[in-house]
Amino acid sequence: MPRRSERAAAPAEAALELRIESLAKGGEGVGRAPDGRVVFVPFTAPGDLVRVAVVARHARWLRGEAVELLEPGPGRTDPLCPLFGVCGGCDWQHLDYPVQLEAKRRILADALERIARVRVPDGFPFHPSPSPYGYRSRARVAARRGRVGFRRRHSHAICAASRCPVLVPALDEPLAALARRPPEPTGEWELSAGTEGGASVARVPVRDSGTHVDVEVAGEWLRVSGGSFLQANALLRERLALAVGDAAGRGGRCLELFAGAGLFTILLARRFTRVLAVESHPGAAADLEENVQTAGLDEVVEILARPVEDAFAGARLAAFRPEVVVLDPPRTGLEPPARDGLPRLGARRLVYVSCDPATLARDVAVLADADYRLASLEGFDLFPQTAHVEALAVMER
Ligand SMILES: C[S@@+](CC[C@H](N)C(=O)[O-])C[C@H]1O[C@@H](n2cnc3c(N)ncnc32)[C@H](O)[C@@H]1O
Repeated sequence: MPRRSERAAAPAEAALELRIESLAKGGEGVGRAPDGRVVFVPFTAPGDLVRVAVVARHARWLRGEAVELLEPGPGRTDPLCPLFGVCGGCDWQHLDYPVQLEAKRRILADALERIARVRVPDGFPFHPSPSPYGYRSRARVAARRGRVGFRRRHSHAICAASRCPVLVPALDEPLAALARRPPEPTGEWELSAGTEGGASVARVPVRDSGTHVDVEVAGEWLRVSGGSFLQANALLRERLALAVGDAAGRGGRCLELFAGAGLFTILLARRFTRVLAVESHPGAAADLEENVQTAGLDEVVEILARPVEDAFAGARLAAFRPEVVVLDPPRTGLEPPARDGLPRLGARRLVYVSCDPATLARDVAVLADADYRLASLEGFDLFPQTAHVEALAVMER
């Protein structure tokens, strides 16, 4: 963004001067226009005084692009990546890491308080990534007409890249190799790194590619095939898995919905007498079965390889009578059959892992109506430099 000394020629009638007050859930800075309307401005920081060109107008809000930074806010820093702002991968490289964490904590608390109308515990923990760069062990790279890189912001076009500072070092060479010798066909490639550095590269969709990585979590080894879900932050996923285990506690019967390749399942099976795990992706369900066998837990874990919604339509979940339910749905949260069916299972505790505060809050509101109260809340910064927020909410009745 140009500074005052490099004044850009913004169309005067469309330009506003405003102070950025906070960061919105999509990552944009938020200020107020003189008429009181909220203005969303990407790549700004709290405390910035910016001149903004308005690019979209709605009755209650405006969207703008910052054309001049008049006064920088206190939380600004220099982005590490020369592609920042062009590449669609990162929103917040211009923000100091503590500012990112504080913004995520507020976004999570706001969603729960505004949408679910529940009281959020004061000072709930928000676990930082041990490193804000070099953490990501799974990414997709696009190739087209001899170019390899990531999707540009708000576009399908490719922003050529031969390195990416958020990736773990084990993915530097696989990405550089793709960039040196761009694959012929247009498409996407999935890069994954295992715990001991082994990396896999597979064309998307990764069906039957035969690729996999081995990931160690709290002394347990998991096989995760190409195309199966892998918690991408290699530095923080163990802490998340252990927190899920601690939140679930110990006991007789634990139901796990959206189990993936078993990141939480194995730890839960060490704590409960019986675990019923539901996962619909065939590759992930096959990994889960193999991981359960490798851990010697096939007597403890029963796997339902089907959609959670179908499982709620059947009789097995109710017959299982779980004491605790652990659930880690995709960004869309729970579909109505699961949202409405979950309270009827009668569990005393729900351990909800969420990657979207808005859908978490929507589901928490429904569960609160069924007498589950929010007992604890933690945040996990699985995706530094982006606005993504991961949360662990425990509900009890
Ligand atoms: C956010 S991931 C969590 C996986 C696992 N808990 C982990 O941390 O590795 C969500 C998982 O739910 C699965 N999934 C998505 N929709 C589903 C559905 N309707 N029924 C069952 N599984 C589903 C995905 O395949 C994915 O493995």
